[in-house]
Amino acid sequence: MHGAWGGVVPEIAAREHVGAVNRVLAAALAQAQVPWADIDGIAVTAAPGLIGSLLVGVAAAKTLAWVYRKPLIGVHHLEGHLCSALLADPHLEPPFLCLLVSGGHSSLVWVPAWGAYQILGQTRDDAAGEAFDKVARLLGLGYPGGPALEKAAQTGNPKSYPLPQGKIAEAPLDFSFSGLKTAVRRLCEKFPPEALPVADIAASFQHTVAEALVQRTLRCAETVGARTIVAVGGVAANTGLRSRLQTEAGARGWQVVFPPLSLCTDNAAMIGCAGGLRLQRGHVSPLTLTPRSRLALTACDELYR
Ligand code: KG4
Ligand code: ZN
Repeated sequence: MHGAWGGVVPEIAAREHVGAVNRVLAAALAQAQVPWADIDGIAVTAAPGLIGSLLVGVAAAKTLAWVYRKPLIGVHHLEGHLCSALLADPHLEPPFLCLLVSGGHSSLVWVPAWGAYQILGQTRDDAAGEAFDKVARLLGLGYPGGPALEKAAQTGNPKSYPLPQGKIAEAPLDFSFSGLKTAVRRLCEKFPPEALPVADIAASFQHTVAEALVQRTLRCAETVGARTIVAVGGVAANTGLRSRLQTEAGARGWQVVFPPLSLCTDNAAMIGCAGGLRLQRGHVSPLTLTPRSRLALTACDELYR
């Protein structure tokens, strides 16, 4: 539905949420075979995101919480991504450094304890996933761009075209992907459309993004003395990034945790997991919970007041 428009259309997303929410809920309960009596709480994404979609989910969750007399737990979307690593390694314990790379965010988050977040680096412009989506469009690969670009890159040579990593001298832990995107656009313009070396450009771009992410992550881990690195978010599904990070961190004797591929991109399991952790600590949202299109990860405690 969104592919036809080259990206997510907020109005379509909100309407589809209305149409799908009851069916999805019924299917999930049937598949899990869990009776309501065994459900401890209702977790729901409350911020940040497209407000129309958030409103549908929050209204549904409040209704369920009210009808079944269960605690309501509003979850910050990025805390959900962070907790997706727990679905791969249930024994994961802070402190750890998290590389959080999605379609809307690219950050290095230091996690000294669950719920305590310190942003040590972030993007100055495009998020990593956004850069994948924009470059995939330049290469005519369609939407969503990340998986399509990764597939195209498989047959390309990552060393074909040197591209800029977007280093920021005064902020070595920050990212910038807009210069890289412009460099790819200029490169594409040098070729007639029918002779565009799609695989080589895709591989060179993917290699450059992975290097930018991995080098800053390693530098950040050294700065804070992290020995465990967690990589989450849609872009953490990228096998090029996964193998680079695994190799480099492994060589230093550090542990790396990735969610399984299917739980890197947005999913409900990670929201349930984050909600469960909050509930264990007694954090519950009021039934007056209001979804927010913007909310910093460092301010996510506001969802429990
Ligand atoms: O976390 P996510 O599902 O949604 C947001 O919270 O934004 O991330 C979606 C982003 C998209 O930009 C998509 O192109 C990117 O993750 N993505 C990938 C891959 N799979 C998804 N990027 C690179 N390689 C992939 N395999
Ligand atoms: Zn996400």
